[in-house]
Amino acid sequence: MEIRHLFWLLACLGNFGGRICEIVNLANKGLTSVPDNISTNVMQLDIQDNAITTIHRTDFNDKYWTLLSINFTNNKLSHFEEGCFNGTHLQSAYFTMNELTAVPDLQYVVRVSLWYLRFDSNRISKLLATDFNNLNLLDLNLTNNSIALIDPGCFKGTTRLGNLHLNLNELTSFPALPELEGILEKLFLDSNKIDNAPLKALSYLTKLTYLSLRFNYLTHLPDFTTVLSGQVTITMEGNPLDCCCNMAWLRKYEHSAYNYQICKYPSQWNSTAWNNITEEMLRNQPCGDKSTPYLCGTTLRHYAMCHAVVNMRVFRTRNSTLAPHDRDNDVTLTEKYTNTYSTQCDNSFVHFRWRELQLECHEPRATSEMYEDAVTSTTNIFNAK
Ligand SMILES: *[C@@H]1O[C@H](CO)[C@@H](O)[C@H](O)[C@H]1NC(C)=O
Ligand SMILES: *[C@@H]1O[C@H](CO)[C@@H](O)[C@H](O)[C@H]1NC(C)=O
Ligand SMILES: *[C@@H]1O[C@H](CO)[C@@H](O)[C@H](O)[C@H]1NC(C)=O
Ligand SMILES: *[C@@H]1O[C@H](CO)[C@@H](O)[C@H](O)[C@H]1NC(C)=O
Ligand SMILES: *[C@@H]1O[C@H](CO)[C@@H](O)[C@H](O)[C@H]1NC(C)=O
Ligand SMILES: *[C@@H]1O[C@H](CO)[C@@H](O)[C@H](O)[C@H]1NC(C)=O
Ligand SMILES: *[C@@H]1O[C@H](CO)[C@@H](O)[C@H](O)[C@H]1NC(C)=O
Ligand SMILES: *[C@@H]1O[C@H](CO)[C@@H](O)[C@H](O)[C@H]1NC(C)=O
Repeated sequence: MEIRHLFWLLACLGNFGGRICEIVNLANKGLTSVPDNISTNVMQLDIQDNAITTIHRTDFNDKYWTLLSINFTNNKLSHFEEGCFNGTHLQSAYFTMNELTAVPDLQYVVRVSLWYLRFDSNRISKLLATDFNNLNLLDLNLTNNSIALIDPGCFKGTTRLGNLHLNLNELTSFPALPELEGILEKLFLDSNKIDNAPLKALSYLTKLTYLSLRFNYLTHLPDFTTVLSGQVTITMEGNPLDCCCNMAWLRKYEHSAYNYQICKYPSQWNSTAWNNITEEMLRNQPCGDKSTPYLCGTTLRHYAMCHAVVNMRVFRTRNSTLAPHDRDNDVTLTEKYTNTYSTQCDNSFVHFRWRELQLECHEPRATSEMYEDAVTSTTNIFNAK
């Protein structure tokens, strides 16, 4: 029993003229609605494994002042009337394994008291902008729904949410949760369909200590550890990773319980256990395709290389179409960098050519995070000069 629960229990036992706060067990009684003869001293209501479809205002409102905890696991709930639970001080509410397709409006009535909320194994497909506003929640479990969309602003004013469980949903990109910046500590995103994780979305996770991304479609994850305040544990098993220098940072943080193979590329590592691939091996593994491989400019050695080529010609396109571009030709790195930055890199960006002491501009990659990644390393390169 957690501390607050205990506190309430003691308060309850002490302050209500000797009335006892009861644990009412109505589990597995074939109920299709909430009965109206529950003891008014109820503190915990176990009403799991029934066939209740709807929660009405009259079921709980202004009746159970001491009610702290309800367990509706394995019912058939698909509808909550508006404004249910008014006049209770619900602290934990479990609606695991029901048939909800949308988040009910609990937040308006029990927003201060509610700490633990579970909607896991329902059929929620979208989190709306108002669904979790201004809550005191600590832990929200939305595992095993079909959530594909999280509207911006969904967690506005929710200032204590440490754990957010979104495993087994339908997300296709890493969720951006700016409202939880400096708040969220553990984020569970296993078994979604996430194939991109923009640096911007990751940069909100400044207080994160645990991130699970197992069984998604990620080929890489931008290094966001520089924005984190503490040490973060990441699990990435079951993603088709492109193991090259821009993933070297992950080696320090990826902590899976066992030895598994994660690198889909390069193919010579596709049956090597991740634990056997060192940070140094990753740093020395060029990214990019065969015709334009590059190493990531993160070591002093590479800065030095860059410095040496500052005044060399900068090509806009790959070697295959080598013609120096009129505008980019003969610019210094400074000019090039400024130019690239101020135009939001709409034409090209700069990174290292592997082995050849030359800078090269590439067409932007398909995804924006590759672009941000590249700009970050360009900034570093430039600052190092
Ligand atoms: C509540 O009512 C049901 C049937 O109406 C009955 O079986 C049950 O014993 C009652 N419970 C209490 C606590 O009175
Ligand atoms: C709620 O009920 C389920 C199903 O019986 C049970 O597994 C779970 O432990 C209960 N949760 C709480 C907090 O009592
Ligand atoms: C909750 O009940 C109080 C007192 O009856 C009432 O003033 C308030 O409007 C109710 N809130 C909601 C959201 O229904
Ligand atoms: C997910 O939810 C469905 C429907 O409620 C259930 O049948 C299934 O067992 C759940 N899966 C997990 C892994 O909890
Ligand atoms: C969240 O829900 C999942 C699926 O039902 C369950 O396995 C997990 O233990 C829950 N975690 C918490 C902290 O409630
Ligand atoms: C590993 O790469 C080799 C060579 O490209 C390929 O034949 C093989 O199918 C790959 N294995 C896996 C598990 O992807
Ligand atoms: C990992 O390295 C260990 C020790 O060098 C070796 O015994 C093992 O076969 C390697 N495993 C894989 C999957 O590469
Ligand atoms: C790219 O162009 C440079 C400069 O002309 C040339 O020296 C180099 O061999 C070319 N590299 C490739 C891979 O074609």
